[in-house]
Amino acid sequence: MGELFWNKVAGAVLAIVLAVLAITELGHLLVPSHAAHELTAENTAYPVDWAAIGSGPSTEVVEEGPTDYGLVLAAADIGAGERAARRCAACHTFEQGGANGVGPNLWGIVGADIASHDGFSYSGALEALDGVWTYEALDAFIENPSGYASGTAMSFRGLSNDDTRLELIAYMRSLSDNPMPLPAPLADAAPAEAVDDAMGAMDEAAEDVAEQVQEETDGGE
Ligand code: HEC
Repeated sequence: MGELFWNKVAGAVLAIVLAVLAITELGHLLVPSHAAHELTAENTAYPVDWAAIGSGPSTEVVEEGPTDYGLVLAAADIGAGERAARRCAACHTFEQGGANGVGPNLWGIVGADIASHDGFSYSGALEALDGVWTYEALDAFIENPSGYASGTAMSFRGLSNDDTRLELIAYMRSLSDNPMPLPAPLADAAPAEAVDDAMGAMDEAAEDVAEQVQEETDGGE
């Protein structure tokens, strides 16, 4: 056993130590600490775009979508809407054939042509709006009249509470011989879309991580 033999042994031991260190290091890079129950920006080795992943298909994602008029109007408290309508009573009547006041009578307003009530002289701002009072249009107008129709003669600040507005719209919808149909609820489509979005974001993030691991590995060679 000459000197060369011990050199080889020392070399082999060194190689094994390095290999163990490398594997341990790689393991830390790939697997988050056991102590961590949840992945966060702190305990993952690679920067992940957490905002893109979001928190998955939570209700928040659904709430950010368009108002589901078919769903909320069907469930809205019409009695509460009638009480809310007192805030409009200084200027509007709501019963069939009611008189115009400062503002026009509002019987049958849901689905009616905008600015079309007999015997009321509208502002140019309202006359300039095309179409009918859809749920969306009424919702936007009542929330912020002058924001929706700049220059409108309706000097009312608007109702900022979403629930109150929708109850009021459900009440106004009921003031008709032939209430405008409710749109089909979006409920079935929305969560599926949210899941798709979340899955897509997760796929992209996973690809990013895989790419970065690949780059790291390549760079280490
Ligand atoms: C201070 C008086 C006043 C109050 C309060 C008021 N309005 Fe009006 N409203 C008006 C006037 C005036 C017009 C006509 C606007 C124009 O010609 O620009 C109008 C128009 C409208 C129209 C359009 C009517 C049409 O024929 O196209 C709707 C809908 C409406 N108001 C709903 C409401 C509701 C709902 C409330 C209560 C939340 C309310 N208004 C409170 C004065 C008022």
